[in-house]
Amino acid sequence: MGQEIDLMVNYPRTKRNVDERGMEKTEEDRAIARQFGREFFDGDRKTGYGGFHYMARFWEPVIPTFQAHFGLTANSSVLDVGCAKGFMLYDMQRLIPGISVRGIDISEYAITHAKEEVKPFLQVADARALPFDDNSFDVVISITTLHNLEEEELAVALQEVERVARKGSFITLDAYRNDEEKKRMEAWNLTAKTMMHVDEWKAFFKKVGYTGDYYWFIP
Ligand SMILES: C[S@@+](CC[C@H](N)C(=O)[O-])C[C@H]1O[C@@H](n2cnc3c(N)ncnc32)[C@H](O)[C@@H]1O
Repeated sequence: MGQEIDLMVNYPRTKRNVDERGMEKTEEDRAIARQFGREFFDGDRKTGYGGFHYMARFWEPVIPTFQAHFGLTANSSVLDVGCAKGFMLYDMQRLIPGISVRGIDISEYAITHAKEEVKPFLQVADARALPFDDNSFDVVISITTLHNLEEEELAVALQEVERVARKGSFITLDAYRNDEEKKRMEAWNLTAKTMMHVDEWKAFFKKVGYTGDYYWFIP
């Protein structure tokens, strides 16, 4: 089995007020957000990020953690599942020159508006059917993406990560450890379709055969 390990430990925490965002949301907002179009990335705060722009301060401190954990070098290859506009991969290429990166995202909007420097390495695709051969990448990373699938589809997506990853993988998922965190998660959630207690996630990984590393997004 993989390790429970917080490779996102250096990612800056958001300061937005979880409860406030929870109160503002409607089912209509959720439906709009789940299209992962302009409204999700660059529309109103109610339906997503409220402006999804590149800022070095987000991924720059995280890349060295990925690098050390997986031993990434110029000869490594990495796939980002749910890469959005490619910001993480852009910083990875900058900080580990020569590394091969690829990204997929279901959002045509995000790929079209991706950071120009990495756009050639990104494509529209679905986590449930990765358009790559078995063992194509040393490492597969997927940050706060796979919980947007229903449980059955998520099992397929985890098996896809297993199939294309040669050496290892790391995913983060919406999770909670107690009732208070569960309530906060429900208030925060805009797009996720599967949220579980951390122990339920671990049992799920075992059931579906996911052997990579993992950590939680807990608002
Ligand atoms: C919360 S965003 C995270 C983006 C990026 N990984 C990050 O951490 O900044 C979730 C991303 O998952 C993508 N997504 C949702 N469902 C997907 C699917 N079935 N296959 C691939 N990408 C998907 C969305 O378009 C969106 O870019």
